[in-house]
Amino acid sequence: MSVQTIHNGIYCIDVQHPQRRMFDCLMPIKHGTTYNAYLVKGREKTALIDTADPEFTESFLEMLSGADIKAPDYVVILHTEQDHSGSLPELLTRYPDVRLAATAEVVKLVATHLGIPKERFEIFGEGDVLDLGDHKLRFMKIPFAHWPDNTMLYDEGSGVLFSSDLFGSHYSFDRVFATNSHETKGAARAYFAEIMMPFSTQVRKYTERVAQLAPTMIAAAHGPVWNNPSLIIEKYMKWTSDKVDKTVVIPFVSMHGSCGLIADRLCMRLARHGISVLTHDLGKRPESLSIETGNVMLDLVTAAALIFVTPTVLGGPHPAVAYCAMLANALKPQTAVIGLLGSYGWGTRVSEVMDGLTAGLKKAERLDPLLFEGLPGEEELLQIDKYADALAEKINTLGDRLL
Ligand code: FEO
Repeated sequence: MSVQTIHNGIYCIDVQHPQRRMFDCLMPIKHGTTYNAYLVKGREKTALIDTADPEFTESFLEMLSGADIKAPDYVVILHTEQDHSGSLPELLTRYPDVRLAATAEVVKLVATHLGIPKERFEIFGEGDVLDLGDHKLRFMKIPFAHWPDNTMLYDEGSGVLFSSDLFGSHYSFDRVFATNSHETKGAARAYFAEIMMPFSTQVRKYTERVAQLAPTMIAAAHGPVWNNPSLIIEKYMKWTSDKVDKTVVIPFVSMHGSCGLIADRLCMRLARHGISVLTHDLGKRPESLSIETGNVMLDLVTAAALIFVTPTVLGGPHPAVAYCAMLANALKPQTAVIGLLGSYGWGTRVSEVMDGLTAGLKKAERLDPLLFEGLPGEEELLQIDKYADALAEKINTLGDRLL
């Protein structure tokens, strides 16, 4: 943990959390995360942008006191979620005279979640500027990237954009600037899958706006600072488009081998058509269901199809598949096709239940389900081949939708 200069008069106070392995109890984060605050020292005033997760309040305040200032003149809160605002109450105890600045949306939520009265804040609207002298921080609202209150600040002095959650990544490492590594981009993609994918339509508009703004750097609230902003802007343009690649994601559970056989057959047949297949056995290690399901979501960012394979358990899908379906439904990938295969013992309502669980995936074409009583025999395996052939044909003819 350190205070690192990212530009003249601009410092990143990044609280590192390398041991963290899950975010929101939903997404695996194998590289941990960071909670980034920024300190901007202007000729006339100093502003602290955001704070840190409350678990790290003490080390955050220690880092701030090492930043060679008596106290910030302003604290600007860009987003209320506690991983960024959680150290604010303690910070106010230490610096009682500091002035608070935020949009009306942040002020409302901070009052609700942290109990800090609205009157304590100076409210800034869209386009308003907090003038620190040579640094002039312009407020830009980006609702639902990720909560209704998210706000960016664009420093007209340096061209640095403080982007809040937008363009973040769960990536704890010992350098402040992002590299072009596979690992860095993978961490940003995993972050996008959980936090931004449900709001792709809005996030695309914000990305286009940022591309036009052409900032010199993007300083997000998590992960490394993008000192080559086009790197992350290009990725967001791809991830927020409705374009998909020729990939089928197959989450499955197999209790007695039937569904494993179905998933294998489907996989082999699709591969013959040049389709790439990513299978996820959700039942293999029940203790890591949330990790495996998180990996499904990561694969879905640009996948053409999502095909569930499930046994019937007491009339419905296996609960592990149901969880995966619910999460996909909530995170809303751009998937073009959705399907269901499975086997059952003596009767099933799995199709109706799965349709209900994935009802939010409205843009995806829904294939007719293919469900077998018991272990698929030769005739059933040929039906799976036909299913795979039809699916491959749909994907190969997606035309403009293909990346
Ligand atoms: Fe990193 Fe929505 O908080």
